[in-house]
Amino acid sequence: MINSLNMSPIKIRKICCIGAGYVGGPTMSVIADRCPELEIRVVDINKERIAAWNDSDLNKLPIFEPGLDQIISRTRGRNLFFSSEMKKSIFGADMIFISVNTPTKTKGLGAGQASDLSWLEASARQVAKYANGHTIVVEKSTLPVRTAQAIKEILNTANRENQKNKISKTFSVLSNPEFLAEGTAIKDLENPDRVLIGGEDPDAVKALVNIYLNWVPRKQIICTNLWSSELSKLAANAFLAQRISSINSISAFCEATGADIQEVATAIGMDKRIGNQFLCAGPGFGGSCFKKDILNLVYLSGYFGLPEVANYWNQVLLLNTWQQDRIYKIVLEKLFGTVGGKNIAILGFSFKANTNDTRESPAIRIASDLLEEGALLSIYDPKVSFKRIREDLEQFSSNNQGTWKMASSIPDALENVDAVLILTAWDEFFGLDWNSLASLMRSPAWIFDTRSVVNRKDIEDTSLNLWKLGEGN
Ligand code: NAD
Ligand code: UGA
Repeated sequence: MINSLNMSPIKIRKICCIGAGYVGGPTMSVIADRCPELEIRVVDINKERIAAWNDSDLNKLPIFEPGLDQIISRTRGRNLFFSSEMKKSIFGADMIFISVNTPTKTKGLGAGQASDLSWLEASARQVAKYANGHTIVVEKSTLPVRTAQAIKEILNTANRENQKNKISKTFSVLSNPEFLAEGTAIKDLENPDRVLIGGEDPDAVKALVNIYLNWVPRKQIICTNLWSSELSKLAANAFLAQRISSINSISAFCEATGADIQEVATAIGMDKRIGNQFLCAGPGFGGSCFKKDILNLVYLSGYFGLPEVANYWNQVLLLNTWQQDRIYKIVLEKLFGTVGGKNIAILGFSFKANTNDTRESPAIRIASDLLEEGALLSIYDPKVSFKRIREDLEQFSSNNQGTWKMASSIPDALENVDAVLILTAWDEFFGLDWNSLASLMRSPAWIFDTRSVVNRKDIEDTSLNLWKLGEGN
């Protein structure tokens, strides 16, 4: 455990970040904003993405995150640069963050559970090849416990080669997992609950601590060993996801018994030991990480001979899929057992509000199931593109009997529908004028509200039927 802070003998001037995605882009933007003396280069193999980061129209940034455009307008071209020039960006860097994707393996040993580390390995090999002098390599991606060992081995092998050729290259590896949530990324980065740094080289740790000290209080910077840092990230995501599965299990209970999930969540959340965060029942968690990180934990538990631990965490995932299936079946049941040829509006396609990200969005599975039953969907989301939705639906379902179209507004989506299914809690879905919207819809029509955005009072004077997740009769 390293807790004392002295000045690090390592002075960081230039940073490179490999991976310009949902983590690399916003994280480096905030570091550039808070540390104007640092020069930061964010590199990516995806040239289209880099072009979008460099677009002069800030509405075309590849990621929608509230507040990101303002930071980019302050920092881009000043001390923050996006490029595809791997060699040049790595060569001059004192510190290199690796922030590449680590999805679940689809093939080979551990397929369906273990993390696919090919992008991470490729990045480490590029660092080994192009780095110069002493370089601190920081794992920003979420990784299986003991991945730092693999990175060290790749870097050290390169180092031995270099020594043969009389080139001097040395490396220190740190783990610095990211805890930002999409939709609040900038707020989370500017005011993190904690920053976690794992590492064995005290000078490298201090160098990274010093960067964060530009805006994060020292007591919120935790320094641990490498393996605790890697495991804490997986464990934090697993705990968060577990809470959602727990409250979702209770939402079904409420519907069966006449209890109300909002009231239950308030009552249990007021217990300080439980706390009131992450108690919103919904259509199941989405996002790129909860599922893959728990799968990874399940895989590692099996690997380390802990089948009971693996089963425990696997149940969190099973419950999540069950919740999505349950919602689809309720829609089917309320619409007299068939949705074939019926018009259904879907409001919200992103996995949560305030992001254009749809990875693992519950909307993909639910919309695909409805399409397979022959439903005619009109989908409205304020930020998700037509292309994104098309790719998601094509990938998920192969047997569509129905069709879908993209709606340009809420009224456009609701025109002549038999039902509307609310799947994301975008601000604009709250407080809608259901009196006037009802006149656009067929009669009788249903609202299926999975995010508690509709107030029952607001539909009292309409002919609409309302089903709310977790609300018993
Ligand atoms: P992402 O897919 O949005 O971005 C990763 C980027 O890395 C892509 O643009 C890809 O082209 C690039 N890349 C891959 N291999 C490369 C290489 N060899 N050289 C250069 N670029 C390369 O992923 P993300 O959402 O930013 O997640 C990155 C990591 O951070 C993952 O491990 C994830 O689990 C973790 N994480 C994500 C979030 C989140 O909210 N998305 C939050 C915390 C942690
Ligand atoms: C999550 C974690 O919150 C971050 O700390 C972590 O860094 C990140 O994963 C990651 O590693 O990728 P994110 O997935 O962006 O962040 O968003 P969350 O706010 O956690 O929401 C995840 C899913 O859970 C969403 O589908 C959301 O709608 C759902 N959710 C969340 C609920 O259904 N109920 C809740 O009470 C909270």
